[in-house]
Amino acid sequence: MTITKQDELDALKDIGRIVANTMQAMAKALEPGMTTGELDETGRLILEREGAESAPQSTYDFPGATCISVNEEIAHGIPGDRMIAAGDLVNIDVSASKNGYYADTGATFRVGTVRPSLDQLCQDGKRAMQIGIAQVGSNKPLAGIGKAIGKFASDRGYTLIRNLASHGVGRSLHEYPEEIATWPTRGETRRINKGLVLTVEPFLSKGGLWAAEGEDGWTLYSKPSAPVVQYEHTVVATDRGAIVLTLPG
Ligand code: CO
Ligand code: CO
Repeated sequence: MTITKQDELDALKDIGRIVANTMQAMAKALEPGMTTGELDETGRLILEREGAESAPQSTYDFPGATCISVNEEIAHGIPGDRMIAAGDLVNIDVSASKNGYYADTGATFRVGTVRPSLDQLCQDGKRAMQIGIAQVGSNKPLAGIGKAIGKFASDRGYTLIRNLASHGVGRSLHEYPEEIATWPTRGETRRINKGLVLTVEPFLSKGGLWAAEGEDGWTLYSKPSAPVVQYEHTVVATDRGAIVLTLPG
């Protein structure tokens, strides 16, 4: 959506805060020995308490309140019986709506101590998102996001998953301008209009190039198989750059 009124910004900040708080509470609850289903339940209860509705559930009939993806799973993992262990990378993606407004956030968390290379990947994944967000502003080229992230990734020997795009959000989970590349593209001539609400969510990897769907019809895996992290904020474009909507508070 494109924000034109203060009420719209306030409503988006409200649902942005709710999804961010939900994700942070889940991250705090995350510990070895628990199942992804138990972790999802923590998130489900907070969304319910806040009067918010899980967006993947309401939009796509996703079998969980949140998406939880462990290690080789890179996105859209279904919460269930899988046991979380020390050394795992766990991606938690929370998107939800309240009063007709949607926000979407995600992050990859380390359980206990992880291998140093994975620790670095997490730090760099967060930086890749921030570099993308820095390219958001009124009338800036939409392709600038992927161009900047692409340079950051290739300078450090990383790859980017090239079929999991960022997206417009606000009045629904996925909307105009639909797919926003977080990798370098040719032929993208659109500009970011003032007030546009979008996500920035690069999938940074140590070799992965695309995401392929698993047998459950939801879970996505990296091809070729490699560690992947994702960090995601919902932001709004203004004359002074991006305002991040998915901040805890
Ligand atoms: Co998300
Ligand atoms: Co998203």
